[in-house]
Amino acid sequence: MVKIKVPATTANLGPGFDTLGAALALYNHVTMEEIEQGLKINIVGEGANNLSRDEKNLLYQASFITFDKANYKPRGLRILLENHIPMARGLGSSSSAIVGGIFAANELAGSVLSLEEMVDLATELEGHPDNVVPAFYGGFTVSAIAGKNVYAKQFAIPKGLKAVVAIPDFFLSTEDSRQVIPHTIPMKDAAFNVNRVALLVSAIAQQDLSLFEIAMVDKIHQPYRSTLIPGFWETLAAAKENGAIGTAMSGAGPTLIAFAAENFEKIEKAMQRSFESFGVKSVTKTLDFSQKGVEKAD
Ligand code: HSE
Repeated sequence: MVKIKVPATTANLGPGFDTLGAALALYNHVTMEEIEQGLKINIVGEGANNLSRDEKNLLYQASFITFDKANYKPRGLRILLENHIPMARGLGSSSSAIVGGIFAANELAGSVLSLEEMVDLATELEGHPDNVVPAFYGGFTVSAIAGKNVYAKQFAIPKGLKAVVAIPDFFLSTEDSRQVIPHTIPMKDAAFNVNRVALLVSAIAQQDLSLFEIAMVDKIHQPYRSTLIPGFWETLAAAKENGAIGTAMSGAGPTLIAFAAENFEKIEKAMQRSFESFGVKSVTKTLDFSQKGVEKAD
């Protein structure tokens, strides 16, 4: 039997579309056990009412593919999912299922696949690497796909930095959120994002919080996606007015994220109030970043 925990993630961090990510200290727990026959999936917490408990379950599918790659044939499987990551909110719930399924299956199979092979497989299943890479590595991550491989670097979290998240009470699928982004963007916006993302990675590498505010500005996806989230700009502005050092849409949304080193409660309240004034109910949380990625748990 294996027990693991896999962190939530926030992707893009503003300008780093499909490239930057960070792991958050909010975890889904997975227990996977080989049994005599059949498939038994039990789900508690987030998704308990919507996730499938049969072969269509995403975590099971990722584990099935992993067993196949590892040349291991479990007779049957019992899986318990204890979920804390909200679904379809931009906090990496589908990545956590893919990463959790791959990692747990690889452990059961005797750790046949390397970390790099697991990252490549997870990226292939997810379609982009910026959520799965921090879920494996923890910390802040930069990732790129070249051919069939994913190249990734991890950075430590600057000291004292936390993430304040405002999670609206509606779902937004990554697919729907990607559809509103145009196929071509102006060259000046591309150049703007290139310099912002370079500045942000430098700020993270040098633990320089003073650069986050200008470095987290994005012009290639958030302006288009903002139309899907009532009060998007106003809620980010409210976070900044109350002490956030940088703000963004978390992944493909609808969660909004504010990076801060103080005033956490003030920022939470301001974001919630702002969303409320646009008729959006939200849950807010202040989360530590997770320096560790998926790992075995007790
Ligand atoms: N980079 C992805 C996006 C993350 O923004 O669509 C969501 O999975």
